[in-house]
Amino acid sequence: MDPRMAAAKRAMDYIADGMVVGLGSGTTMYRFVDLLSHVRPRVLLVPTSVDIEQYAARRGLADLIRYPWQVDRIDVAVDGADEVRSDGRVLIKGGGAALVREKIVDYWSRRFVVIVDESKVVDRVPTNSPVPVEVVPYAWPVVAHEIESEMCGEASLRRGTGKLGPVVTDNGNYILDWRPCNEVDDNTERAIKGIPGVVDSGIFANYGGRITVVVGTGGGVYLIE
Ligand code: 5RP
Repeated sequence: MDPRMAAAKRAMDYIADGMVVGLGSGTTMYRFVDLLSHVRPRVLLVPTSVDIEQYAARRGLADLIRYPWQVDRIDVAVDGADEVRSDGRVLIKGGGAALVREKIVDYWSRRFVVIVDESKVVDRVPTNSPVPVEVVPYAWPVVAHEIESEMCGEASLRRGTGKLGPVVTDNGNYILDWRPCNEVDDNTERAIKGIPGVVDSGIFANYGGRITVVVGTGGGVYLIE
């Protein structure tokens, strides 16, 4: 079985009737939405991007979609990741530029289930992915300069494909892709967030006992908890 589908299937074990479910973004999440559309549990879905919202609607789930102001909790958030540190304590997200809404929903959730294939599990983060940083458009050159001079590495403005100019997020902001010189962790997450103009970063750290990472492999799944 496709490792991402294997992870999505295992994540369905965390879903029960009556739950409010945070819907992360990305291609692994498409598989999870496909499964939801077959099973159709009695849940409400809070999407983290226009993309996953439209995907869920196309799969016949439009009636289940709600926004944060229409629910009083998120019981479980299911989301993908670009990289997962092998102890599960630090993730990199935002390859699809949905990191801000993902972080809001994932942070708010009582249980956070991350679904990845085994290529995403690495000993140090980042290994291959850049660290995305969502910035207010006015501030991007200042934030890029600050990151490069104070934190080391290179920060470049993410540009679109199929459209000239920068990628504009669902929140109307830009993305800087930062390739740091060193490993990142919760201290880095806090430091970046302290720079004026930064909305948030793709470093997701310290979810403690609420996080379960479901890793799909060619032969099944394993969990990092
Ligand atoms: C989007 C994300 C995605 O969860 C991440 O990029 C993983 O995507 P995929 O499942 O397609 O590999 O953070 O902002």
